[in-house]
Amino acid sequence: MTTIPAPSRRTPAEGRFTFAAATPLTADPMLARAAAWLRETLTPATGLPLPEGPGGVEIRLAEGLGPEEYRLTATAESVLIEAAAPAGAFYGAQTLRQLLHPAAFRAGRTGERTWSVPAVSIADAPRYGWRGCLIDVARRFLTKNDLLRYIDLLSTHKLNVLHLHLTDDQGWRLEIRKYPKLTEVGSWRRESPLGAKRHRLFDGRPHGGFYSQDDIREIVAYAADRFVTVVPEIDLPGHTQAAIAAYPELGNLDAPLNVGTDWGVGENVLNVSDETIAFFTDVLDEVLELFPGEYICVGGDEVPKTQWNESVPAKERIRELGLRDTDELQSWLIRHFTDYLLARGRKPLGWDELMEGGLPAGVTVAAWRGDKCAALAARAGHDVVVSPFAETYLDFRQAEGDQEPVPIGSVTSLSAVHAFDPIPGGLTEDERGRILGAQAALWTEHIDSPRLLDYMAFPRLAAFAEAMWSDERDFEDFLARLAVHEKRLDALGVEYRPAAGPHPWQQRPDAPGHPRTRAEIDDKLAAWTANLRF
Ligand code: ACM
Repeated sequence: MTTIPAPSRRTPAEGRFTFAAATPLTADPMLARAAAWLRETLTPATGLPLPEGPGGVEIRLAEGLGPEEYRLTATAESVLIEAAAPAGAFYGAQTLRQLLHPAAFRAGRTGERTWSVPAVSIADAPRYGWRGCLIDVARRFLTKNDLLRYIDLLSTHKLNVLHLHLTDDQGWRLEIRKYPKLTEVGSWRRESPLGAKRHRLFDGRPHGGFYSQDDIREIVAYAADRFVTVVPEIDLPGHTQAAIAAYPELGNLDAPLNVGTDWGVGENVLNVSDETIAFFTDVLDEVLELFPGEYICVGGDEVPKTQWNESVPAKERIRELGLRDTDELQSWLIRHFTDYLLARGRKPLGWDELMEGGLPAGVTVAAWRGDKCAALAARAGHDVVVSPFAETYLDFRQAEGDQEPVPIGSVTSLSAVHAFDPIPGGLTEDERGRILGAQAALWTEHIDSPRLLDYMAFPRLAAFAEAMWSDERDFEDFLARLAVHEKRLDALGVEYRPAAGPHPWQQRPDAPGHPRTRAEIDDKLAAWTANLRF
């Protein structure tokens, strides 16, 4: 069996189930979505009509399984998928698709073929509930159709969270009805760096795009149909230059700003006025309307305090509220938004820097700065989603060598991603229970096209999915299955990184990178987290 992620338990049997033109597909009404998805996915690729009727492939309700758990039993006579809930049935259907020939992953027929699956008995459930991927659509806008394609790719790998980084210094990608200039002005920039910032090369090309509110509704519904929850991120109060460019009154300076055209941690952060708080409360109201999922991310990462340290109104706020410093000012500001979300029955998510000024209650921490932050957050009683940058940021290069396209960061190899364990050492049983799971992250400063996104994402995202789903991990076995899985990716048109390195056309000599060693990255992390005071 060659499925990815590997199922928890599988027992091969003798024989195969062969599909005939008349092979029926039926599902318990509660699990109908899995059957509908199988039909809409397999019929174009196979030509099999999969009519309703008894026998053949059956998706049946079974008590006592977890919400994402399923059993799949294929014999020479029938295929049975059992689940207690729609998500479990859907994952059973995803596994069934992988049991077929990789041509089942095409969008149309390529010729006559006999479709069959091996007889097998599978009992399967995920290891972690949060199996996510962040896509940074702020730095590089991903068209709606490209994003829908990624939702399919995530669900093919049984990943269930899409964290959409919608706003940043270099772009605001979400239509907000009350504040149209956020997208009129904030959704495009004049040009972008070509390669790493230090080379001071620019492409001289405008870049932009945004999702209308109907685009977002469509994306969210499409994802929900595939059991992927979209977690929107409105990054506050840093990474907000695009918003300040649109509405200068949100910033700390008198001079107007452009939408950012450079990468890095920008000093242009929101001011702390009542009007700015009211503005982003309005923004969150529209976000709440658009995104029905539990979690809403309010950012909180990388907030230089330079402008607040110089700002009279910020100093007045600190005095008036009896705060110690600008770190506490940030926590005070963010707490307004996290309390607002909590009062509306949602769960706020924020990056681990929020802990520096006192983490607001009820916030789930997205721990990107290593195990130490994840462990501190869990010890402090917070739920945690880990996304340590040296292990799970898939913009980091995949191998040594100049031929890697726009090589940045240290090497995050396929085997390292496959071996990734989200649980920091030294936690009690209780604290471990607070680690909800993990996310890989596709930050896009150096990923300037959907083709390069494929190259950076795959096959590492397949390895990450297995790390999130499967209890036992055997890299050699993964590689053997990957040889077949690559045929599935080929059929899906995914331009993954070949094991031997990039094709000539995947190289980017025009866009030089800035590779680091792992020791440099570890030093940076140690410096960032040396003085954590929470
Ligand atoms: C982050 O990488 N700034 C969350």
